[in-house]
Amino acid sequence: MTVTVDKINALIASEKAQFLANYKKIVESPSVSAQHEHQNDIRETAQIAASYLKEAGAQVVKIYETKGNPVVFGRITNKEGAPTVAVYNHLDVQPAAKGKDGWTRDPFVFTEDSGRYYSRGATDDKGPAMTALWGAKIAKELGVETNVEFIWELEEEIGSPNFESFIDQAKGDIKAQSVLVSDTLWLSPQIPSITRGLRGLQGFLVRLRTGQKDVHSGVAGGAARNPITELCGLIAKCVDTKTGEILIPGFDKTWKRPSAEEVNDHVRSGFSVDSFKAANKLNSLRVTTPEEVVSRIWLSPTFEVHGIAGGYQEEGLKTVVPPFAEAKISMRLVPGQKLEEVVKLFTSFAKSIIPDCEIEMEHGLEAYAAPSNLAQNEFIAQAYEFGFGVKPASVREGGSIGAVVTMADKLKVPVLFMGMSLPEDSYHGPDESFAWRQVEGGVRSFVKYFELLGGR
Ligand code: BES
Ligand code: MN
Ligand code: MN
Repeated sequence: MTVTVDKINALIASEKAQFLANYKKIVESPSVSAQHEHQNDIRETAQIAASYLKEAGAQVVKIYETKGNPVVFGRITNKEGAPTVAVYNHLDVQPAAKGKDGWTRDPFVFTEDSGRYYSRGATDDKGPAMTALWGAKIAKELGVETNVEFIWELEEEIGSPNFESFIDQAKGDIKAQSVLVSDTLWLSPQIPSITRGLRGLQGFLVRLRTGQKDVHSGVAGGAARNPITELCGLIAKCVDTKTGEILIPGFDKTWKRPSAEEVNDHVRSGFSVDSFKAANKLNSLRVTTPEEVVSRIWLSPTFEVHGIAGGYQEEGLKTVVPPFAEAKISMRLVPGQKLEEVVKLFTSFAKSIIPDCEIEMEHGLEAYAAPSNLAQNEFIAQAYEFGFGVKPASVREGGSIGAVVTMADKLKVPVLFMGMSLPEDSYHGPDESFAWRQVEGGVRSFVKYFELLGGR
């Protein structure tokens, strides 16, 4: 049997109800990795996922335990000796609560509205995971012989702290000659994006205690040190608050600015500043030309403050000098930058400005550059075109996935990307969603990719 769009579409139509029931059940299991209270939900999600692997015909289904959350592994063997690919997704999600951060829906109730499915995890990354699995199931039904493994992580959103220990345990079980990661975004809703690389990430929690209690700012203010003010001062010395330029001494030497050719290549991929602004609901930007925007979101390091804790956060104004403050900071890094070097530059600079601050590191993830010129790169392009009827563009992306570098280093196989999420899906944001046409096109693309990998 050969794979055709019509045959796949017929199976999509007949299996749609079952797919949606499965998708609903797994997104309604609130597997928030950052919050301890969701420990049991994480385990429930792992069990649900394992049952779906069995249902799709996997002969091997295993839940690997780690010090933290488990990793679900499965293999669909279609033909002994045929090529094997592993598909990586994560099944943990970002925190979300009804009525908070702009959610207008219950984040853990699955709803459909004009061709979109809403819920936390709908697009990041349960939707793409379920799409890839459905693709493998249909590929099997159509006689594709490629063997497909699944690696489903449950700690991606907290920086994959135990993923390496999973790989150490599972190394003997993983037979894949390559890995396909489906956890990235397209640059526009019409143009599939092949991810050439990811940025790295280094987080810092900077804490400063200058006293034991709140004091009246009219009594002690002026003489008392203000920890919030000092942390803000440090931040303003690390980054130009208007342009975003990183000012930490020595940082400039750790990375190379993208060439004009690289920037233009990304601009030509179909990127539009207006749709970028609209998809992310941004009122204004630091820069306006497409060249500058793509170079900042994909090709350059960043320094961001995610939150400042401390002081009075309730209604009105309270005239105290707080005794304590914390700044939550991270830097995105580009391929070639070393985590250690960046940590050293930042911590020594911070200590030179505020000698008594305390710095805790979080989420140290190396950047990644995907291999190019492999047969698989071409197969991904063909699979996208088969699935969506459009030639894809290829770009570096701005986000980070901890497991990627670990898989590349430890499994020593090419790790490539075939993402399905769209800019308007509200990644990590309120009312997260995934479009049905990404499921349909995604299933067709996965089936085609598996077929192209060989096996017949
Ligand atoms: N799927 C994203 C990574 C991503 C984002 C890839 C945008 C391409 C474009 C992943 O789930 C994610 O959010 N990663 C976190 C990791 C962090 C919390 C350790 C990130 O990038 O912030
Ligand atoms: Mn993700
Ligand atoms: Mn994410």
